[in-house]
Amino acid sequence: MTDKTILEVQNFDVDYGYGDAAVRAVSDVSFTLGASKVLGVAGESGSGKSTLVYGLTRLLREPGVIVGGEVKFHLDGEGEFDILSASEEEIRKIRWSHISIVLQSALSALNPLRRIGREFDEVLRVHDANLSKEQRRERSEELLALVGLRPDRLRRFPHELSGGQRQRIMIAMALALRPELVIMDEPTTALDVVTQREIVSELAELRRQLGFAMIFITHDLSLLVELADDIMVMYAGQIVERAPAKELHDAPRHPYTLGLMNSFPPLHGERTELEGIPGSPPDLKALPTGCPFSPRCAFAMDKCRQERPPLVLEVGTEHSVACWLHDSSYQGAVPVELSKRLAKNSGGAQ
Ligand SMILES: Nc1ncnc2c1ncn2[C@@H]1O[C@H](COP(=O)(O)OP(=O)(O)O)[C@@H](O)[C@H]1O
Ligand SMILES: [Mg+2]
Repeated sequence: MTDKTILEVQNFDVDYGYGDAAVRAVSDVSFTLGASKVLGVAGESGSGKSTLVYGLTRLLREPGVIVGGEVKFHLDGEGEFDILSASEEEIRKIRWSHISIVLQSALSALNPLRRIGREFDEVLRVHDANLSKEQRRERSEELLALVGLRPDRLRRFPHELSGGQRQRIMIAMALALRPELVIMDEPTTALDVVTQREIVSELAELRRQLGFAMIFITHDLSLLVELADDIMVMYAGQIVERAPAKELHDAPRHPYTLGLMNSFPPLHGERTELEGIPGSPPDLKALPTGCPFSPRCAFAMDKCRQERPPLVLEVGTEHSVACWLHDSSYQGAVPVELSKRLAKNSGGAQ
């Protein structure tokens, strides 16, 4: 593993609709992803997670429009690739072979009339004309083995497989061409909890083996703790917090992140009663002035209703948060729920 950057996103904005009717679904998103790293993206339904990755991979369709920002993909030996200014043709070459995507609707993405083997054969054939039929079959079996499926699954039709098996097939296909970046948009959401967790563990293992970078989207923050190196939390199309996974888990700073944590049972350990987040996700057509989360936030102050907090990196950490409670201008006490870890560290340098 290296410190190299594979993806660099700056001030990325995506709208749905045009002119007065436009709503901003992704707003001023900036982040970098290291080669072989896993970035988890969490947020309730409607927070802009899918729109973000549709935009980044240029899969966005009308009325979605990329209205600003820069997206750079760095490939070893091949230099920098400017995704937003690339032609459709160039983008198609990159997708699958260098950046592969498992979309939210993946469970219905398999053609019901085709055997699984044929799907694999086609992906491999289209991208590498030099492979013989026999080599393609061998590679298909190898890919199935990667995701823990027996070779005889190649002869099956999608309806003969369980949801978990179909999702494993989609993951194997995403890995078929040895991409450097794999994007998974809620790949396990439709599955039962046990299968979800199995697949997430397998993905973590595959990443260790194969070394690809990954963006893994979910609304279930607890799934990310084991899998992700860093976690980014989105609300109303904005990043409201980003930190190394363990740090975010042990010491969430943003009240919204805390709410998300309390919305799902922990991966290991006791199941306590879940609180969830009061209120409903924001209406992008009528975002409040100030912090978009303020109407639902138990800790909101006057300033939160007046001014939007910027995403600021805490001094001496890799932890960024957009919340006035953690701003250097804030003189009051940080609510105890948001300060447990801070207190633990208070004997240290800061
Ligand atoms: N095709 C579309 N047309 C208009 N608005 C859309 C469209 N797709 C998504 N949106 C809006 O964009 C916002 C973000 O949606 P999405 O990216 O799907 O969120 P998530 O993946 O986090 O659930 C939501 O408010 C949603 O209603
Ligand atoms: Mg989505």
